[in-house]
Amino acid sequence: MEVLLAKGLLNPLFLLLLFLAFNYYCNCLDTITPKQPIKDGDVLVSQGANLALGFFSPGNSTKRYVGIWYHKVSEQTVVWVANRDSPLNDKSGVLFINTQGILVLNGKNQSTSSPIWSTKVSVPSNTTTMAKLLDTGNFVLVQNDYSQKVLWESFDYPTDTMLPFMKLGLNRKTGLNRSMSAWKSPVDPGTGTCSYSIDPNGYPQLFLYKEGKTLWRTGSWTGQKWSGVPEMSSDYIFNVSFVNNASEISVMYGLTDNSVFSKMMLDEMGFVRWSTWQNNDKRWIEFWYAPKDICDDYERCGANSNCDPYSADKFECTCLPGFEPRSPRDWYLRDGSGGCDRKNGASSICRSGEGFVMLARLKVPSTSKARVDMNLSLKSCNEKCLRDCSCTAYASANESTGGGCMTWHGDLLDTRTYAHAGQDLYIRVDKAELAKYSKNDSLGKTWKLTILIVSSALVLLLTVFFIYWIMMRKRHGSLIERSRDRRLSFSIESASTYFQNSESIEDLEGSRRSSDLPLFDLSSTLAATDNFSYANKLGEGGFGSVYKGVLQNGMAIAIKRLSKYSGQGIEEFRNEIALIAKLQHRNLVRILGCCIEEEEKMLIYEYLPNKSLDSFIFDETKKSMLGWSKRLEIIYGVARGILYLHRDSRLRIIHRDLKASNVLLDSAMNPKIADFGMARIFGTDQIEANTNRVVGTYGYMSPEYAMEGLFSVKSDVYSFGVLILEIITGRRNSGYYKDSSSLNLVGHVWETWKEGKVMKIVDPLLTAETCSAHEVLRCIQIGLLCVQDYAADRPTMSTVVSMLVNDSTLPSPKQPAFIFRRSSAYNSSDPSTSTGGVNSVNGVTVTMVEPR
Ligand SMILES: *[C@@H]1O[C@H](CO)[C@@H](O)[C@H](O)[C@H]1NC(C)=O
Ligand SMILES: *[C@@H]1O[C@H](CO)[C@@H](O)[C@H](O)[C@H]1NC(C)=O
Ligand SMILES: *[C@@H]1O[C@H](CO)[C@@H](O)[C@H](O)[C@H]1NC(C)=O
Ligand SMILES: *[C@@H]1O[C@H](CO)[C@@H](O)[C@H](O)[C@H]1NC(C)=O
Ligand SMILES: *[C@@H]1O[C@H](CO)[C@@H](O)[C@H](O)[C@H]1NC(C)=O
Ligand SMILES: *[C@@H]1O[C@H](CO)[C@@H](O)[C@H](O)[C@H]1NC(C)=O
Ligand SMILES: *[C@@H]1O[C@H](CO)[C@@H](O)[C@H](O)[C@H]1NC(C)=O
Ligand SMILES: *[C@@H]1O[C@H](CO)[C@@H](O)[C@H](O)[C@H]1NC(C)=O
Ligand SMILES: *[C@@H]1O[C@H](CO)[C@@H](O)[C@H](O)[C@H]1NC(C)=O
Repeated sequence: MEVLLAKGLLNPLFLLLLFLAFNYYCNCLDTITPKQPIKDGDVLVSQGANLALGFFSPGNSTKRYVGIWYHKVSEQTVVWVANRDSPLNDKSGVLFINTQGILVLNGKNQSTSSPIWSTKVSVPSNTTTMAKLLDTGNFVLVQNDYSQKVLWESFDYPTDTMLPFMKLGLNRKTGLNRSMSAWKSPVDPGTGTCSYSIDPNGYPQLFLYKEGKTLWRTGSWTGQKWSGVPEMSSDYIFNVSFVNNASEISVMYGLTDNSVFSKMMLDEMGFVRWSTWQNNDKRWIEFWYAPKDICDDYERCGANSNCDPYSADKFECTCLPGFEPRSPRDWYLRDGSGGCDRKNGASSICRSGEGFVMLARLKVPSTSKARVDMNLSLKSCNEKCLRDCSCTAYASANESTGGGCMTWHGDLLDTRTYAHAGQDLYIRVDKAELAKYSKNDSLGKTWKLTILIVSSALVLLLTVFFIYWIMMRKRHGSLIERSRDRRLSFSIESASTYFQNSESIEDLEGSRRSSDLPLFDLSSTLAATDNFSYANKLGEGGFGSVYKGVLQNGMAIAIKRLSKYSGQGIEEFRNEIALIAKLQHRNLVRILGCCIEEEEKMLIYEYLPNKSLDSFIFDETKKSMLGWSKRLEIIYGVARGILYLHRDSRLRIIHRDLKASNVLLDSAMNPKIADFGMARIFGTDQIEANTNRVVGTYGYMSPEYAMEGLFSVKSDVYSFGVLILEIITGRRNSGYYKDSSSLNLVGHVWETWKEGKVMKIVDPLLTAETCSAHEVLRCIQIGLLCVQDYAADRPTMSTVVSMLVNDSTLPSPKQPAFIFRRSSAYNSSDPSTSTGGVNSVNGVTVTMVEPR
């Protein structure tokens, strides 16, 4: 009986009836039917209420557009615009389905024959249609029968924003080309000059264009990510996929957590920015953007050269092995755009004993003319390339297997180096060049052998030690469990006494052991943060996420959970524990404990209810809570905190990642410096150090640190200077300044300072208090002194603190670094530091590959 009923329900006729009934009585909020148009003021809301469609005016514009925006996001975020280039001038607009079944937008004065906007599709004559806003943000026109065939969809016509599950790319069958193009300006969604689209030539890559010029390329797909986006990982919330087959070339990003709102948008300056909505703070948080640094500029160093932003001499361009600068004069003057030519002509690399030299950690050259064969192994790739005299380089095309064969023919364009990522590229060189590298490599071979022997001995030792440790642990297991339970109910008071007692400053190694700090166990951190739920997430730090938690005893804590996949995390983690456990200052955030269990590494801090400084000074509404005297107190407090790190803490500590989001505010708005994950200890007599791992935040990094990896107390002073300027102007350093030729805030302040108009860019809230103008100016001057190009010119933190307290006369600042736009940025003004060795491949791992 039940079976019969089920069969009856599946009867097509029944389904048809159901559909007809549904459509007749549908009064759905998410649908436009021929009988249900929407007019200006009406809003369609998708079923899950994530997105809405309706009429809007961007910013102070009075023009009306039909668009889609996030319904649950309080800041109006338009992700798609229908009539972007033909706005309505008044509120007479109506969006309806016309007699032919297509969607049409019209105003009062338009004739129906030439509407403002319409979906240009042909609808089968005997069908009706309806338009529906889906919960993904896709607005679809479907056939109103039970086939529900999609005739048109907004995902096929992206504007400036890519939503999850939206595709970018080319449909090879229909020729449909989905690309992004920026708005003209924040108040005009019209098609702007920047676009982001797939280039199907060779092995496909995504390109970013502005006014017809190429700004940046993503590089080719390596199987898991783009060659030029090494930081991309698709294992947590987002998974990026790339398809290249006979029917389409496309890229898409998916979302595994539906509660996350995300957008990847192209701004009118030509930056691709990917952000997620942070519901606690009510703002979009950017977690990725591109292009990032000078070497992302397309073809910055011309053909056949490599761009290395970490280059030891001040010039980022080097010729690839076997090449020399086309114009040595320009090269000497630090202009690499001319590129490089082969030293001994093309014939030297054709059947005359040539071979390959490997460069590591690269974004491989542009693949617009490269050939790919996924079936070959790397070894066959070498043979194939060697046989073909036109082949200039090869690389693996599949990063996960190390197989696949990509070959280049002709010039190698837009190659760059990464610090910790990138692919291996094998470059064809002549006999002479090969001999040069092979000599160095034989040295390398003995080294490799030594390292192998030493490391295997170490592994053996560690294994023995580990087994011993397991046995000991088993014996004392119950004891450890008990002591852990006791530690869980730790209160802030007992934590601070604990620190005051641990005074063994000399015993640095000892303090690295986590046992110095109260241990929390994994289950209690899980309970405290509701299994690290997204709702408890406070933000994203350099090496992981920060969550709010509440312990069983009701105490609020902040947990920094290092991401499992950040290979670099462990070192920073140890470092942070070792450092912060010893630091006690009212302007530094206090650590309560840590947790190391299985794969998890976490730090537990006191919870500061007011979050970070950037959530105030860059927020239009919260700004007003910080008047001038409060901001001055914050500047002073941060200065005292840094001074303590630099001088008073007995250890000499360089923070290396000072920025507004690393300054937290307690309930009384006192600033506390956080995030010591990147800090380094100095010997008290040490002045400067070099690192091959440049970490920190672009925009806050001093020039010598960003370019050469040199850091000192003066790099922190630089970051502090940027922070002062941000606090005073209420603008981000990395923002865009339309009315100025500067690249960033520092440059903008400098320009207006020189013109004597600097008070114009001060946060208007501050100039209201007339008595403070003198103090504001003085602080700007101190800020500018801190961001001067040469580290030696910058004051030390103790000088800064005394400048802030006393009313002494200040020196006049010199021009800061990093201030001009792309074209002229980073040109060294100091040719005397140039070296003759323009052909060296500094900082690049070089290995020889045997010719066949
Ligand atoms: C909107 O404001 C900007 C500056 O904020 C101004 O340049 C523009 O003229 C204004 N547009 C309109 C239509 O008022
Ligand atoms: C409609 O057209 C008339 C005459 O062409 C014009 O005077 C009027 O301003 C228009 N109205 C709108 C809202 O564009
Ligand atoms: C619409 O017309 C086509 C051909 O004219 C026919 O094959 C099809 O069955 C019709 N569809 C409906 C729903 O009547
Ligand atoms: C796709 O469109 C963009 C922007 O109009 C254009 O730059 C690009 O060349 C097009 N791609 C193809 C394959 O037609
Ligand atoms: C790379 O190889 C893996 C494993 O064979 C395969 O799953 C993946 O699709 C390959 N990637 C590409 C881009 O061919
Ligand atoms: C191409 O890939 C897409 C997405 O994976 C798939 O739907 C389609 O069937 C493929 N086409 C061909 C011809 O393999
Ligand atoms: C991303 O992952 C989800 C769940 O694991 C899966 O359903 C979806 O197809 C993936 N999307 C892409 C673009 O790979
Ligand atoms: C690669 O190998 C597969 C199966 O082994 C085969 O179907 C395909 O034709 C090969 N492709 C090329 C380009 O040789
Ligand atoms: C080989 O090593 C020598 C000495 O270490 C160095 O001067 C030379 O530049 C190296 N050659 C190359 C091509 O790296």
